[in-house]
Amino acid sequence: MIIEDKIAEQIPAWRERVKRLVAEHGSKKVCEITVDQIFGGMRGVHVQVSDISYLDPYRGILYRGYTIPEVLERLPKAAGSEYPLAGGLYYLLMTGEIPTLGQAQEVEAEWKVRSPVPGYVLDMLDALPQKTHPMTMFSHAILALQNESIFSSSYSDGLRKPEYWLPTLQDSLNLTAKLPAIAAYIYNKKYRNGLYIAPDPQLDWGANFAHMIGRSGEWQYEELTRLFFILHADHEGANVSAHVSALVNSALSDIYYASSAAMNGLAGPLHGIANQECIRWLLDLRAAFDSFPTEEQIRSYAWDILNSGRVIPGYGHAVLRVTDPRFTAQLEFGRKYLPDDELLRLVMLVYDVLPGVLSQYGRVKNPWPNVDAITGTLQYAYGVREPDFYTVLFGVSRILGLTTFAVWSRALQKPIERPKSMTTSMLENLVCEG
Ligand SMILES: CC(C)(COP(=O)(O)OP(=O)(O)OC[C@H]1O[C@@H](n2cnc3c(N)ncnc32)[C@H](O)[C@@H]1OP(=O)(O)O)[C@@H](O)C(=O)NCCC(=O)NCCS
Repeated sequence: MIIEDKIAEQIPAWRERVKRLVAEHGSKKVCEITVDQIFGGMRGVHVQVSDISYLDPYRGILYRGYTIPEVLERLPKAAGSEYPLAGGLYYLLMTGEIPTLGQAQEVEAEWKVRSPVPGYVLDMLDALPQKTHPMTMFSHAILALQNESIFSSSYSDGLRKPEYWLPTLQDSLNLTAKLPAIAAYIYNKKYRNGLYIAPDPQLDWGANFAHMIGRSGEWQYEELTRLFFILHADHEGANVSAHVSALVNSALSDIYYASSAAMNGLAGPLHGIANQECIRWLLDLRAAFDSFPTEEQIRSYAWDILNSGRVIPGYGHAVLRVTDPRFTAQLEFGRKYLPDDELLRLVMLVYDVLPGVLSQYGRVKNPWPNVDAITGTLQYAYGVREPDFYTVLFGVSRILGLTTFAVWSRALQKPIERPKSMTTSMLENLVCEG
């Protein structure tokens, strides 16, 4: 299998590099930790090394060193499509190399073979109450698939440590192959009276999701799905879902346990659901005025929110200091295909007005929009109007990055994570003495 061969080829050099780094510099300090940071969510503490992606304050997310515009331009595309095949992105994340079209298609072909979702997973989803949150269903489905783990069975059979990565890669391919079908099943069960549509073997991973939720032949929505799945695939190694996945994986729990746990983190209001808040905020803004608001009305609406101590969703970022390139990529899509969509015109007008307001407000370090300021608007425009579901789409894409990180953690034979906690008195004594 193409990714397996590439990783096997790269492993000796990577193991040697890490071994040398630790042997020669193992006792050197990387950063100090302050009391503020301990009580402040460990912000800025360097606890993880990831070569899969890096968030640069001015260039945005880099996948294996490539910016979003470079990824969109350089990754191979399906015939007639302007957006890359997710199979090519998975190849890039896993191997660090831009694939040829043939290599991207080979990953897509692997996914097709591995895509059938066992009946017991669908039965389990059917047994859940209809009101169950889509993220709960998604996490349940991934966990139920744990029965299929090749890593877990191989480990019980005495798998050797240097080979741990191999069945982890098999599990990763098997899980990621099934994600569009699982997400579509959840969407149809929740919002389309349980309609079931089988995958179309002619379609790629991204477009198949569109097909399975009943958007067959809706070429623009297929394109949007491809774009969405490219943009959300990874965001460094230490955000909540990435960290959870890495932590669980370090205990030698398999990909299914680690990914289900990560999705439980992604489901949190402070992590994966900002895109829901954004579309609601935008709809509220539109509803506040009888006709399409003017710049002045938006300015005064925004000041009312800020003066009442609330945040404006979709703006600001803990790391970025420019407009999120993932926002820009989606804005370009919207400008091209949805120039007359009222909500999209509102997104654009808000983009003209808000950075000035937030700069004047003074407190916000980054007055520019992040990815979430537009994601929901595009889904909404194509009739996917159930904001609760947007985090599932996010999760489908993000598991590409998380599983890549897990495979490489096993390849580099990383140990179980075990930081240390202390009591408040111990900390008081330590800093008072210091
Ligand atoms: C993303 C976010 C959580 C980053 O937070 P952060 O790292 O603390 O950002 P900053 O350092 O710029 O925050 C400084 C202050 O500005 C405020 N601020 C930041 N973004 C703001 C926004 N969009 N609206 C209003 N206030 C904002 C913060 O709440 C903070 O206030 P405080 O001094 O009272 O604590 C924050 O910008 C935010 O809440 N944005 C809106 C929600 C959102 O879009 N989330 C998705 C992120 S991908």
